[in-house]
Formats: sequence, structure tokens, C-alpha cells
Amino acid sequence: MVGIAGGNGELLGRILSAHPRLRGVLLERPHTVETARRLLGAAGHTERCAFLPGSFADVPAGGDVYIPSRVPHPASRTTGTTTAAARSCATAPA
Ligand SMILES: C[S@@+](CC[C@H](N)C(=O)[O-])C[C@H]1O[C@@H](n2cnc3c(N)ncnc32)[C@H](O)[C@@H]1O
Repeated sequence: MVGIAGGNGELLGRILSAHPRLRGVLLERPHTVETARRLLGAAGHTERCAFLPGSFADVPAGGDVYIPSRVPHPASRTTGTTTAAARSCATAPA
């Protein structure tokens, strides 16, 4: 399960807590991914979660499920980031 622009990892952490067999990948901008790493580590999810600093162009291949939850809207008006994120999810190789 890949959290696109996964923020501080709260959503992914809740999903991992509810489903102990799932594994997660959190894609976020570098400064925020470190916060997510710390919080998900404190929640005991370090073993089941990988942290990927990057942007929408860096959506990793091989995820079973992609969660582009609350991908920034204001930015999309000027930069098309929501569209870019959706396109990256759609074209990520299996
Ligand atoms: C409203 S939060 C959503 C967090 C999480 N997905 C959720 O639903 O709780 C939006 C996130 O998008 C991230 N973000 C903004 N631009 C980004 C980019 N170019 N690449 C990756 N993440 C980005 C921000 O750092 C922020 O954490």
C-alpha cells in the first residue's frame, strides 16, 4: 500500500494498525518524510513501512494499492500536481 504525499503518516499508520499483514510505502517530500518515519516508528510500524523521500514523479512501481489522499489542491491549480500524481499512479509498472 503506497501513500502518495502521505504527510506525517497518520493515515497509513492507521491502516497498518488495522491490518497487521499489510506493508506500506510512504512517499513524501524529504522534510516531511522524516516526521512520518519518526511517528510511524513510535507506533511500531518501522518493520512494515518503507519511506521514500521524493515527489509525484517518484511514485514507486509494484504497489497493490495507491492512496493519493488529500493530494494538495491549491498547488494543482498552478502546477497540475494532482494530475501529475494521478498519472504517476496510473503508469507505475506492476
Ligand atoms: C493535506 S496533506 C495529506 C497527507 C495525507 N495524504 C493524508 O491524507 O492525511 C498533503 C501533503 O502533500 C505533500 N506534498 C505537497 N507537494 C508534494 C509533492 N510535490 N510531492 C510529494 N508530496 C507533496 C505535503 O508535504 C503534505 O504532507
